[in-house]
Amino acid sequence: MPYKPKTQIGVGDVDISPLAYRYIKEILDTRRITYGKFISQFERETARIHKIKFAIFCNSGTSALQVALHALKKNFGWQDGDEVIVPALTFVATVNIVLQNNLTPVFVDVEPDYFMLDVEKLAAVITPKTRCIIPVHIGGQPADMDPILKLARIHGLKIIEDSCETMFAKYLGKPVGSWGDFSCFSTYAAHTLVTGVGGFICTSDQGLAIKAKSLVNHGRDGIYLHIDDDKNKKNQHLFKIVDRRFRFEDVGYSYRATEFEGALGLAQIKNWKKIVSKRQLNAKYLSQGLKGLQQFLQLPQIRTNSEHIFMFFPLVMKNDRIKRSKLIYFLEKNLIETRYLLPLLNQPVYKKIFGDIENKYPIAKMLARRGFYIGCQPSLTKKQLDYVIATFHAFFAKYQN
Ligand SMILES: Cc1ncc(COP(=O)(O)O)c(C=O)c1O
Repeated sequence: MPYKPKTQIGVGDVDISPLAYRYIKEILDTRRITYGKFISQFERETARIHKIKFAIFCNSGTSALQVALHALKKNFGWQDGDEVIVPALTFVATVNIVLQNNLTPVFVDVEPDYFMLDVEKLAAVITPKTRCIIPVHIGGQPADMDPILKLARIHGLKIIEDSCETMFAKYLGKPVGSWGDFSCFSTYAAHTLVTGVGGFICTSDQGLAIKAKSLVNHGRDGIYLHIDDDKNKKNQHLFKIVDRRFRFEDVGYSYRATEFEGALGLAQIKNWKKIVSKRQLNAKYLSQGLKGLQQFLQLPQIRTNSEHIFMFFPLVMKNDRIKRSKLIYFLEKNLIETRYLLPLLNQPVYKKIFGDIENKYPIAKMLARRGFYIGCQPSLTKKQLDYVIATFHAFFAKYQN
């Protein structure tokens, strides 16, 4: 009898290993639940692997982006209304944090193959008010950072990598996260590492790192950003810390995470190479299995000189002859979870703010209607992958000529 799953094949899951159980028990036993050794080791590992000097763990990828942009705006004296370039296809958080920082998002259309900011269209939107570009590394693959960086240098623009969907992948041999003035990761559910909620603000600039850490902690004086910063200090130094422990320099946020998230992340990151290679193997297997359907489906493409760690497995319907909704309904009915590929400018909230601007970004508009993704997580078994492939073939069988 052919295999049929009993429960839904999701777009992600969470790996709770025996090590994670041990770490969580240690937190409960020692009662040290705020910033401590687990977050601090998770930060060090993340920074080391991505070749960044500072990785600051906080409570979400969105918080990380919000703080990164705030720190740059403050540091470089940007004015309200200054412009920040973002791709016309991304998760809403990339745009929301620009609006929340009282800056103006300026959209650029995306590449049809990789779904990321189209460098060919970038120069045309740079104005004297442009301050920053936020390239987004979609679904596990880096954006085309080299030409983006070159343009940014020419025009004196800052870069924040929205790497919330991509950890560990390299582009031109250099890891995501190490290209921008800031970069941000997310460890929310269904991401590459999963800690429930969580995110990283990364930078190799010490001044920006201190500012970002302070903003995560209510805008507190940089002398006291952890509850251990006053331990083992003596005389004048101790008094200086005590005196400034309750001093606030900026209108900051309460974006701290707990040791529980840190422990889950640390237990998983020790296995990062296995996580990445299993995701890549799953993607290869799915691509191979779906090869015969390329007249209907655009399979994932990998950029030259780039890695793809497949946070998800993206697919695009090749034309409108067969409706995406029909396929999605068929997959979901057969217990295969899907998500649309980050439709953005057709969202009611942005229609209200920007009006009907979708037609200016034809590739993003097409992907919003035809793109979707399924899971690629390490826990998927061969049986499940075969079932996913067979279900796609079953759907398209009647359209084959
Ligand atoms: C591209 C992108 N940016 C930002 C975020 C926000 O991350 P979080 O959900 O951790 O706030 C996400 C989340 O999925 C994302 O996909």
